Amino acid sequence: MDYFHYHDGHLHAEDIDIREIVKAWGTPCYVYSRATLERHWRAFDSALSGRRHLVCYAVKANSNLSVLHILGRLGSGFDIVSGGELERVLLAGGDPGKVVFSGVGKTADEMRIALEQGIRCFNVESYGELELLNKIAAQSGRQAPVSIRVNPDVDAGTHPYISTGLKENKFGIDIETAFDVYRDAADMPYINITGIDCHIGSQLTDSSPLSASLERLLLLVSRLEQNGISIHHIDIGGGLGIPYRPGDRMPSPEEYMHPLLELLGESSYEIIIEPGRAIAGNAGILLTNILYLKETETRNFAIVDSAMNDLLRPALYTAWHDIIPVQQSSGESAKIYDVVGPVCETGDFIGKERRLAIKPGETLAVRSAGAYGFTMSSNYNSRPRPAEILVDGNRIHEIRRRESFDEMLRLEQPIPSLD
Ligand code: LLP
Repeated sequence: MDYFHYHDGHLHAEDIDIREIVKAWGTPCYVYSRATLERHWRAFDSALSGRRHLVCYAVKANSNLSVLHILGRLGSGFDIVSGGELERVLLAGGDPGKVVFSGVGKTADEMRIALEQGIRCFNVESYGELELLNKIAAQSGRQAPVSIRVNPDVDAGTHPYISTGLKENKFGIDIETAFDVYRDAADMPYINITGIDCHIGSQLTDSSPLSASLERLLLLVSRLEQNGISIHHIDIGGGLGIPYRPGDRMPSPEEYMHPLLELLGESSYEIIIEPGRAIAGNAGILLTNILYLKETETRNFAIVDSAMNDLLRPALYTAWHDIIPVQQSSGESAKIYDVVGPVCETGDFIGKERRLAIKPGETLAVRSAGAYGFTMSSNYNSRPRPAEILVDGNRIHEIRRRESFDEMLRLEQPIPSLD
């Protein structure tokens, strides 16, 4: 459930009429709802109540400092995948003691900084990474808290680009060899084994693949325990999907967690989860203005002022985002449109074959854009990145200014003399 709704035919975010935002900030523009973010985070937290647990929001989904600050204040931990994300969490006032660090390519510098900050755990994804971490920890005079990210070889049944738990994926350590890696890790003087981790993919529509993974993980955990290697926490990653289409039905965090908690039974392991999309996705929309309507022999195009550089998901995964008018009744007759951006690529579309009653100058809202929207944006075609606005009840906060041309070009320098 989110807090974007129509009131008297006009789209609102919480108590704010979206037209107010369009008037003041223009388009393209991301708008987030604080109440929705908080509601979603709390749903995960309460799904795990009664057990020791930590909800580590996956920063990559939406890493705006204000979003991190809001979640940090609720007590959230954070799942990071880079030094840059750690920097953001710290700047937003997040607790480094609640940070888990995932990712297959951590550098020595990133390890050093994360160790200095005292993060909760490194989710180690290869043997080479484990050896380097042991070395860097020795140099820093600290023990590195580690869980091995296990690749359980389970098909998450999602888009191949966001499926991560199969043998052929680059993620984690094959469950067959993970036992030996744990044994070696236990002998490394600067490695402190604290947990086990897996993340099998994103936009999962039910928990059965995750249950299958957890079953495998639990077998490994008991084998480890029998061999004197004890585990404090089990991190089951993120991945719960969100409804993108009207009528899509997704499990609630509680429904999603239920079979997993059954599997865990009376065991006392702390549970860590790393949801990103399910917290931020439906807490954000992208506003875009219609520039032109162009009718060709075979298609009607609605050419809008946002593009694949602002929201990459449709172009990259042929992802479907609902597109709705900000003003409900335009008086136009409805037609089927491909909603496309100004970028010079045929793959630059926001939505295809959408029934809309629209005219140029009107504003559309692209729904479910709060996760992997702004964070995947770029300057492709030299387009400055959009503004980000956060609505909190009847208040509007600009949480990131629209990028200016100067800012976009700031890091480039002319060659002094070119002959
Ligand atoms: N933990 C790890 C280790 C991850 O790699 C991810 C996402 C998450 C947690 C959070 O997953 P979530 O709860 O958001 O599903 N750009 C793609 C999604 C990529 C997900 C990458 N990893 C998209 O727009 O669909």
